[in-house]
Amino acid sequence: MNVTTLDGVTYGVNDIAEARQFWLDFGLNLEAESTDRLLFTSKDKSFVEIRHRDDPALPPAIEEGPGVREAIFGVKTQADLDAIKAELEKDHDVITDAEGTLHCLDPLGIGVGFRVSRCVEVKAEEPHFNMPGRTGRLNARGKFYDCAKPLEMSHVVFMVPDTEKEIDFYVNRLGFRISDCYPGRGYFLRGGAGRYHHNLFLLNPGGKGDKFGFHHLAFEVSNVHELFGGGLNMTKKGWKTMLGPGRHPISSCYFWYFLNPCGGGAEYDFDSDIVDENWQGEEFEQTPERFAEWSLAAGMEENLLYKGVQTGDTIKKK
Ligand SMILES: [Fe+2]
Repeated sequence: MNVTTLDGVTYGVNDIAEARQFWLDFGLNLEAESTDRLLFTSKDKSFVEIRHRDDPALPPAIEEGPGVREAIFGVKTQADLDAIKAELEKDHDVITDAEGTLHCLDPLGIGVGFRVSRCVEVKAEEPHFNMPGRTGRLNARGKFYDCAKPLEMSHVVFMVPDTEKEIDFYVNRLGFRISDCYPGRGYFLRGGAGRYHHNLFLLNPGGKGDKFGFHHLAFEVSNVHELFGGGLNMTKKGWKTMLGPGRHPISSCYFWYFLNPCGGGAEYDFDSDIVDENWQGEEFEQTPERFAEWSLAAGMEENLLYKGVQTGDTIKKK
């Protein structure tokens, strides 16, 4: 069914003004704004929509507090969308909105939708890295980033109490592929025609109670310098690190997660695996909690405070 992308998500939040500030600092572009709704985009036009959590326009909440209420996936063609609609209508209520986007609830009640992708192709700027035998930058200093500008939204993550029903829905019925997994515990899924290692990660926290809800949303940036620059900027602006910087063993990327007042985390990624039908997935035995090759647990705030970065900014303590 040729799902290609995560086209966007809609959050239900407690405080629209705080959400506005977070995503502006994170580097998204504020495309539209009204008293009850914000619309942000990455460079590829993938979107983050913000509404108050009591807004009746939102799908029902799956958890207490703020979080993602609906994820919209992009497909290649109208024929792909029609095929998804026919499959969903077998046993789901499906709403088609004025712009042709399909909306329904997945087997666990998570809002999910599909549309012909409106994402546009983007290309990271030339990094001009110097490596032995490969001079990318001659007689020029390296670039420093004072903020990040995410290029693409890559994946959304939910904690779920039951992966089986979800795998049946997304994989067996809607053509998502399992890129890698922790059998019975965690599944990295990509759209059937997706390029990123995962567009959707579903994790059953198992022994940690019946946690059910949104976990985080991830974006790709141009290069590792932008990832660090973006993370340092967020730290200077007073946002708290959830985890990072660090590197994931699965999907290979560098990461830096920030706690988001909209719920869960927001992740900068760089150098994620890009895959096609020749990708060889694996089943991992390690527990999903060991998902970092390495990581700083508490970000770089201490370094900024005590090593004298001269920003002139006041670092807010939350
Ligand atoms: Fe992630």
